[in-house]
Amino acid sequence: MTMEKTMSLFAGLLCLLSCAGTETDIPSLIPAPSEAEFHKGYYTSDGAVSPDDYCSLAEITVDSVMSGNTGEEGYELEVTRRGIRISAATEAGAFYGKQTLRQLVSDKGVRCAVIHDSPRFPYRGIHLDVSRHFFSKEEVLKILDEMGRYKFNNFHFHLTDNGGWRIQIDRYPLLTELGAYRVMKDWDGWWEMDSRLFCRQDDPGAYGGFFTKDDIREIVAYAAERHINVIPEIEFPAHSDAVFVGYPHLNCTGTRYGNGEFCPANEQVYEFAENVLLEVMELFPSEVIHIGGDEARKHAWGKCPACAELMRREGMTDVSELQCYMISRLQKFLNSHGRAMAGWDQIIVNDDLDSRSVSYTYRGQRGGIIAANRGVKTVMTPGEILYFDWYQADPRQEPKAMYGYSPMKKMYAFDPVPVTPEAAAANESMVQGKYVSPDTSIFIRPEMAGYVIGVQGSTWAEYIPDEQHLEYMMFPRFLAVAEQAWSSPDRKDWQDFRYRMNVHRHILEARGWNVYDLHNAPEMEIRASGDRSIMELEPENPEAEVRYTLDGSDPVAGSALYSSPVMLSGDAPVTVKAAPFIGGRRAGYIRELTVTPGESYRDYYPYMD
Ligand code: ACM
Ligand code: ZN
Repeated sequence: MTMEKTMSLFAGLLCLLSCAGTETDIPSLIPAPSEAEFHKGYYTSDGAVSPDDYCSLAEITVDSVMSGNTGEEGYELEVTRRGIRISAATEAGAFYGKQTLRQLVSDKGVRCAVIHDSPRFPYRGIHLDVSRHFFSKEEVLKILDEMGRYKFNNFHFHLTDNGGWRIQIDRYPLLTELGAYRVMKDWDGWWEMDSRLFCRQDDPGAYGGFFTKDDIREIVAYAAERHINVIPEIEFPAHSDAVFVGYPHLNCTGTRYGNGEFCPANEQVYEFAENVLLEVMELFPSEVIHIGGDEARKHAWGKCPACAELMRREGMTDVSELQCYMISRLQKFLNSHGRAMAGWDQIIVNDDLDSRSVSYTYRGQRGGIIAANRGVKTVMTPGEILYFDWYQADPRQEPKAMYGYSPMKKMYAFDPVPVTPEAAAANESMVQGKYVSPDTSIFIRPEMAGYVIGVQGSTWAEYIPDEQHLEYMMFPRFLAVAEQAWSSPDRKDWQDFRYRMNVHRHILEARGWNVYDLHNAPEMEIRASGDRSIMELEPENPEAEVRYTLDGSDPVAGSALYSSPVMLSGDAPVTVKAAPFIGGRRAGYIRELTVTPGESYRDYYPYMD
């Protein structure tokens, strides 16, 4: 980028921050800090313009005695007209103080403020699948930059899966020679082939890639500079087609294609797993190493003589116990090297989980509730709510994505620690897309709440073919996850967040991200009230106004303007159509619902195949 372009981008950013409000306005901070007071005036200094300039002018004290006030990762930030002071117990805390400071900078200087802040959760994660589609090192570094700015501290790097093996392993060169490229980029096209064929890098039409050890070292070091831990995921026992193309003897039938699972009865599998994990541990200092553990189909195990013999020897009565056997051995191996094991929520079937092991809850919230109540650490990343590959607007209008509907409001509404039946039922209603009663909901016993160590936004890449689309799916929903992960529940406020998010959406755009532009149709919420229904309409984009009709016609610029809840009454069903408008022009899809007065509706979108 030229200097001129850099300066104009920077001027644009300053304008976005300062144009967001006047001196009496509250700066738009994401994630919302624990406590913030804003005062009149700004700190300025000759020649200081950029957030980096101001960070270098801050007086920073890092002293462990502060931990009583701020915890391990918190900070205090004071900006007066005379100067900037950041105090923290750790370098991480000071780093987070600087990130908040950056958000206080506008073209007037740094807004005077006193902020006390610390995170809600010790684990604040973003997950990226680079197997189904491959993303470059540069894109990964860009995401890490943004993670640091919004105070995430764990990057869950999904390096292996059926779509391709993405990390150099010296001892097993065929993993990347034969398993890192496939004959077709298009996910559905490739997945539906009789054999999902892999190929070599220089074969015509080859699609894929992998990270060399130097790439990985660079990513890990770049993350560490931003106080981000990188958790590698190497999948066992399933999702491993890309292994068998080079090492077919590791599955039950010894064939290159059509398997997916390792044979849990084959000692060579443990030799392979241990050798791979040794190289992985050498690259990643993370205490936690993720071994997958999800979605083993187990049907080959049921027909395998070696598996049958192992079951007999170990007194197992069901093939599913072979999964526990393998998870248990992997856990032991990692523990013997001083590391802890993480896995997807299938691992909670193991009753021998070590106290440091972490279960990643992805099939709704249920596994997380069970884990926490059993005293197993869990990260909440329910697929139905916190997966970035789900649709963020009407699935009938958006580019192909995964299954269902997860707009930002839903991500923001999730309660990661449901300690009452009501909170669990509200989550469960979002998970299932229909009303679920508190009477039938399991919840986390309050004394076990601390076993939810954090939340994670997870990105699966089946329908994310390139980096532009990756960005479109992650941003700005990323901001909702940042606030879920960092901010205390009493600071969560959807209406306030909508406006702050909108400021940051433009900042992200100015930094060059391809951000989803909130062009979706208004949310409709309709509650029964006697024989009538009360309708509320809200556009995701706070810059938009909503216009609606009740006669079946499409809303236009002159249609009724929504300003407060609307009563629907009468004997006949009413067809509501609503759309967002900006500057007198329709700015998104029309949302339509036929309502029988006296009934309640939440117009969840249909699941898509
Ligand atoms: C997963 O979505 N299979 C973890
Ligand atoms: Zn077997």
